[in-house]
Amino acid sequence: MVQPIRTAVFPVAGLGTRFLPATKAIPKEMLTVVDRPVIQMAVDEAREAGIEKFVFVTGRNKAAIEDHFDRQFELEATLRQRGKTAELGLLEQDLPAAGQAMFTRQQEPLGLGHAVWCARHLVGNEPFALLLPDMVMHAKPGCLKQMIDVYQTHGGGNVVAVEEVPWDQVSRYGVVGAKDWKDNAFRIDGMVEKPKTAEDAPSNLIISGRYILQPAIFSEIARQEPGAGGEIQITDAMIRLMREQPFYGVQYRGTTYDCGDKIGYLSANVALGLAREDLAPGFRAALKRILAEHDPL
Ligand code: UTP
Repeated sequence: MVQPIRTAVFPVAGLGTRFLPATKAIPKEMLTVVDRPVIQMAVDEAREAGIEKFVFVTGRNKAAIEDHFDRQFELEATLRQRGKTAELGLLEQDLPAAGQAMFTRQQEPLGLGHAVWCARHLVGNEPFALLLPDMVMHAKPGCLKQMIDVYQTHGGGNVVAVEEVPWDQVSRYGVVGAKDWKDNAFRIDGMVEKPKTAEDAPSNLIISGRYILQPAIFSEIARQEPGAGGEIQITDAMIRLMREQPFYGVQYRGTTYDCGDKIGYLSANVALGLAREDLAPGFRAALKRILAEHDPL
């Protein structure tokens, strides 16, 4: 039987320098798309995919994330007093069950690979999902659910979500080579972290922020020297693990918004605002007005 994916790791220890000064005192993962913090959206996606154990790798200045997944007694009491049952229901529905959320710290932001390694004792010896919360994946079913379906169909292994980008952008990302396509999934036959030129890239399919990884990844990370940008990269560890274990790619059905980047963040707010039935009519009219003012053509 394929080992089920029960644990998800959320690395949230990065400095968020691209969003200063917003991220000076607030973790960037608490920035909201409309009214939901991006970390909550990633947790929702994991929960929909059947995840029961939520591991957060936090750092200094990230206490708001722990508070977000805890009860807020004063707020709840006041809402109850005022009969605000809808708002109370909303808070209740987002709360993980007791003991499901766990937190560890990455003491220094030494890179994504290092952040994942910090979760090794909490994950234990089983496959796990890794979700980068600033990548907001708007999809139905959710991206991780689509990936778990592929994981089960292939009888296990490692799975990453990918998406196509224009060729002149491949050098910013981890890129995979693809063979044996079946529907929207394929076997990965090569992986390059930040290729110098488009010629060095095996395709224009980039790794986009969701992974299912076998626990052997931890020992690969531990053997690693700092890579691109002086950080311990997860892709370098995956490249080594790929020599021993199969990796699959899923071109998931949905849209990615990189909310660690300002244009991506603004786009997510517009797209998800328009997707909200309660907001769409008013928001559409407001957008039209704004566009007409700023772009009279
Ligand atoms: P990013 O590189 O997008 O995050 O990492 P960052 O470093 O916070 O952003 P900038 O470039 O300074 O603006 C993707 C995810 O990995 C986490 C981040 O918190 C983010 O969720 N991360 C990154 C860590 O947990 N630890 C690290 O050392 C690096």
